Amino acid sequence: MNVLLLGGGGREHAMAWRLSESPLCENLYVAPGNAGTSDYATNLAVDPNNFSAVKDAVMANKVGLVVCGPEEPLVRGIKDFFKADPDLKTVRFIGPDAEAAQLEGSKAYAKEFMAEFDIPTAGYRRFNGENLAAGLAYLDQATPPIVLKADGLAAGKGVVILNDCGEAKDELKAMLGGKFGDASSEVVVEDFLDGIEFSVFVVTDGEGYRVLPVAKDYKRIGVGDTGPNTGGMGSVSHPPFVDAEMMEKVEQRVIKPTLEGIQKRNLDYKGFIFIGLIVVENEPYVIEYNCRMGDPETQSVMARLNSDFLQLCLKMADEELDQAVIDIEERQAATIVLVSGGYPGAYEKGKLITGVEDVEGSKVFHAGTKRNKDGAVLTNGGRVLAVTSYGDTFEDALALSYENAKKIQFEGCHYRGDIGFDLY
Ligand code: AMP
Ligand code: GLY
Repeated sequence: MNVLLLGGGGREHAMAWRLSESPLCENLYVAPGNAGTSDYATNLAVDPNNFSAVKDAVMANKVGLVVCGPEEPLVRGIKDFFKADPDLKTVRFIGPDAEAAQLEGSKAYAKEFMAEFDIPTAGYRRFNGENLAAGLAYLDQATPPIVLKADGLAAGKGVVILNDCGEAKDELKAMLGGKFGDASSEVVVEDFLDGIEFSVFVVTDGEGYRVLPVAKDYKRIGVGDTGPNTGGMGSVSHPPFVDAEMMEKVEQRVIKPTLEGIQKRNLDYKGFIFIGLIVVENEPYVIEYNCRMGDPETQSVMARLNSDFLQLCLKMADEELDQAVIDIEERQAATIVLVSGGYPGAYEKGKLITGVEDVEGSKVFHAGTKRNKDGAVLTNGGRVLAVTSYGDTFEDALALSYENAKKIQFEGCHYRGDIGFDLY
């Protein structure tokens, strides 16, 4: 079968690696891909948000399965586009339709969903331009820290946590005034939850579900989880504090009711559900849903998925998930992300990357990279590379990733030296 993977980050490089290993995979295409995906696949210069260009790529390459990596095409309705087009109806597609993708695309939708299906999450209120005065009055008496979330997609920047009511009021006004464009025309104000976070990845065919390896990511740029949020600076799978008892709670209180909600609402959901959770007094609470895999969690999760990933996708698409074979690697995996100097603020691109060929015993996944006309690999984004390793313990896996990360050089290269610091 010919497969088209949409996206071009480290997540997609890790997925392309596993898809390409499948004996069921004839030709793999990645749109747009990066310098790393071209080792396993043919990169296509196609924007995943340009649905008719995606269609052309599917038709021209006789693609039988499309796997959507990022959330934006899903929230914009790429699955609906596939369903509506007679030429594409028979093409299997991994990812929810636009309504189901609202679980990620609208914080307010997700909160209402969790309230309806009794899924534990932080208490919240919704405010928009019409009830701004009520919002300001609410914030006047709120106890900091105060969590403000732009309702829509804001490239990972739409959550602001403030320690002062006055600042929170200013932020509410700024958000409703268009700070994140349409994405913040509605704002969810949430109670602050204090605890340790982790990521659970569920695959569903709309009826059943299976759970992939659990991971923990590190979103902040600075050591000790300080400074601004990034797309993710590292990940560990399996975070040791997530024991069997915690997973049982997650399954009973979060995963099962989420699937029940998807069925009761008749949502078209064949794909990944990424549940961001936080543990408060030994109980799991949902921080967010995403309708895709996490990045850089996927690099650690794919490393631990020994069974055929393409077959898993086909079982999802064909509503036969109960028959899928899932074999999880017992060793631990850890990922360190190398970023451009200045990220997540302004940074330069086009820096020559060297030393990747000296890496031993780790996998290097590309994110923001491209090849120049001579074939040399250059930086092309904020997050540049991810170094993923196995170990009998997460400490061993991290140590190997760090040893190899040191061998890679590009001007301005930066990575966090303390991934996993809170797991010891
Ligand atoms: P989100 O985009 O909803 O995942 O939020 C981004 C990050 O903000 C999360 O990973 C948390 O670290 C933090 N966060 C979001 N909601 C809360 C909350 N209610 N309490 C504490 N931290 C939160
Ligand atoms: N690593 C967090 C995310 O992918 O949203």
